[in-house]
Amino acid sequence: YSLKDYNTFGIDAYAKSFAVFNSVNDLQNTFHTTNDYKDEAVLFLGGGSNILFTKNFDGLVLKNEIDGIETIHEEEKYVYVKVGAGVNWHQFVLHCIHKNFAGVENLSLIPGNVGASPMQNIGAYGVEIKDVFYSLEAYHYKENKIINFTLNDCEFGYRESVFKKKYKNQFVILDVTFRLNKIPHYNISYGAIEEELKRMHVEQLSIKAISDAVINIRTSKLPDPKIIGNAGSFFKNLEVNEHELHELKRIKIDVPFYTINDHKFKIPAGWLIEQCGWKGYRKGDAGCYDKQALVLINYGNAKGSEILELSEAIKRSVKNKFGLTLETEVNII
Ligand code: FAD
Ligand code: EPU
Repeated sequence: YSLKDYNTFGIDAYAKSFAVFNSVNDLQNTFHTTNDYKDEAVLFLGGGSNILFTKNFDGLVLKNEIDGIETIHEEEKYVYVKVGAGVNWHQFVLHCIHKNFAGVENLSLIPGNVGASPMQNIGAYGVEIKDVFYSLEAYHYKENKIINFTLNDCEFGYRESVFKKKYKNQFVILDVTFRLNKIPHYNISYGAIEEELKRMHVEQLSIKAISDAVINIRTSKLPDPKIIGNAGSFFKNLEVNEHELHELKRIKIDVPFYTINDHKFKIPAGWLIEQCGWKGYRKGDAGCYDKQALVLINYGNAKGSEILELSEAIKRSVKNKFGLTLETEVNII
């Protein structure tokens, strides 16, 4: 079963079996009523926008299509919205903007589905989902149990959660409940948003204006997966200490960074990769995007293994030049 249409890298990998599910009942049937898939490797898939298949998948791929957006509770300041894991993330953002529910406008146009958003605590332009997350329901498919996870249970970090670490491959997220603001707290701390709002001549700030600004910025520098295969940032940005920052400045005085606290600084990995000469690089159909070096791309028929090899060559050269180790952000299968 070809997975080419189910991953935004456009890798032509094959799965032994493939099925779509719309409810937890479907999953219970698959795993507990019948015994067909008892010993099968399982991969839960959303929009396939943060995944790199480096080989065929010798097991069952299950695509999550659980639907539904529902306001379940309202308070003076907040509204609680429960969203099915299979809902497209940006459709949910548009729903919030339409209803005037604030909090996710900075996260406009991130590809993929709601169910994957807690996996790596998706983030952009100064906001992460942990800022609006309330709870989620997940199904432990081996033990046939549904568990509720609160904000603390998820242990969100920068592009991290329990689902990427200790509970890896155990749970499938069924739905996520967000706590959105009825009174918006605009976040335009990210310089590029402020510039774009000025360029757009926005006089009255609104969640719609912020969403439009973010959409403009993103479309100008990130490749559209419908046109060119990619999974967004391939690596994470790097956190360094004072000593490491000092060393970086010795190598290149104008290293960009931003301060997390007195002892921690964040270095854009895209800059490190560009400094090593990879920006715009292409070998066969695998390449490094010419407008954003952190994004690896498939020009058409690259194999997943070729993208992985390129990523490893990039890691080695960043290590050689700067002594720093890049960490992969994309899920490698
Ligand atoms: P998939 O790729 O289908 O899955 C990702 C991982 O989650 C896999 O390991 C999968 O097994 C698991 N998974 C998926 N759904 C479930 C579920 N319901 N339960 C349990 N496990 C599940 N990310 C950001 O954070 N910020 C950005 O700004 C950003 N920009 C991007 C720009 C582009 C052009 C692209 C292509 C990607 C970008 N990404 C960004 C990455 C990606 O959009 C997010 O990681 C997104 O949340 C992935 O969703 P998905 O449904 O496509 O997940
Ligand atoms: N830079 C370069 N060269 C490049 C790319 C970036 O020098 O080729 C430097 C520049 O100094 C630039 C800085 O990096 O100012 C930051 O670049 P950008 O604003 O494009 O963001 P990023 O740090 O590369 C992160 C996220 C993105 C998210 C944006 C906006 C990670 C791994 N990536 O990218 O998320 O959309 O910020 O908030 O944290 C993703 O996760 O897939 C993703 C796209």
